Amino acid sequence: MSRLDSAIRRLSAQRSCLETALAAAPAGALLEIGLGNGRTYDHLREIATDREIWVIDRQMNAHPDSAPPAAFYLEGEAEVMLDGLFGRVGRSIALAHYDLGIGVPEHDVPLRAALSERIARLLVPGGLLVANGAFEGMAQQPLPEGVAEGRYFIHRAA
Ligand SMILES: C[S@@+](CC[C@H](N)C(=O)[O-])C[C@H]1O[C@@H](n2cnc3c(N)ncnc32)[C@H](O)[C@@H]1O
Repeated sequence: MSRLDSAIRRLSAQRSCLETALAAAPAGALLEIGLGNGRTYDHLREIATDREIWVIDRQMNAHPDSAPPAAFYLEGEAEVMLDGLFGRVGRSIALAHYDLGIGVPEHDVPLRAALSERIARLLVPGGLLVANGAFEGMAQQPLPEGVAEGRYFIHRAA
């Protein structure tokens, strides 16, 4: 499979998982961890018009049309921003989307491990974490039809 094919499948899986998770998510706000260009944030705000969406990134690189309102944008390292968000809103996130990492396990696995507890404590009971990698210790949910095992992940908070 070419890298283009692989990228198309990953984006398609990302969209599918976000839509499936939103349909099953309890009441509460959303959290985008890794704004980047703003593609997934833009999709979330289009499909979840009635929910607040918090956004974290270490730097603003979003397309101007996809930049979140300043009041909901937390700029800085994820560890620090997640702790700050917990101090502000507590356990109130119904659906988080995690899109950090560089696709290299030696980098990405320790990063997820460092952030796992910080994300988990923000999630309401039954809250969902959609992610580009597996979070150890969190229960995984079945994937939507057409998404291959291991391509994207949906976790449920206890
Ligand atoms: C792959 S991009 C996100 C793509 C985005 N979800 C989209 O659909 O356009 C990852 C983003 O995470 C940010 N990032 C990576 N590691 C981070 C960290 N430890 N703390 C905060 N932001 C980080 C990068 O600055 C980058 O903008």
